[in-house]
Amino acid sequence: MNAIELLKQDHEVVKKLLTELSESTERAVKKRTELLRRIELELTQHTAIEEEIFYPALKQAGEKEDAKMYFEAKEEHRTVDSLVLPDLKKTQPDSVEFSGRVKVLKELLEHHIEEEEEEMFPRAEELLDHATLDRLATAMQQLKKDIKASWEQRAA
Ligand SMILES: [Fe+2]
Ligand SMILES: [Fe+2]
Repeated sequence: MNAIELLKQDHEVVKKLLTELSESTERAVKKRTELLRRIELELTQHTAIEEEIFYPALKQAGEKEDAKMYFEAKEEHRTVDSLVLPDLKKTQPDSVEFSGRVKVLKELLEHHIEEEEEEMFPRAEELLDHATLDRLATAMQQLKKDIKASWEQRAA
């Protein structure tokens, strides 16, 4: 699997979890809590591999327009990580407010994913060769593993 395939696979996982969460009811407190935790881990891993490995490689290989795309994507990550997700975690899972915030999170991420897949990834395929995309994937897989391990350690 190369770097782009790996990122797209992550996207599918997150989209599926978000759909499940948005279809859950106010009564399904346990389910909502578990899904939110899984989404948080997925997003933490995914944001890290993009911001620490994939985006910098693209920015370095690219031009001014690519740098703009890089900063826009990072800004969208920041909105989710430091605003929408922390708020959602503080919201009672049995409330209608929770349902509303999930909808916003889902819409933001779907928009972000669409831009990555339709603009950024095709550009990355132009700028980075096969060997580079494979090398990035290996580093990304390792970082995902490390993050998961530290999460599990914290939870234990
Ligand atoms: Fe992203
Ligand atoms: Fe992504």
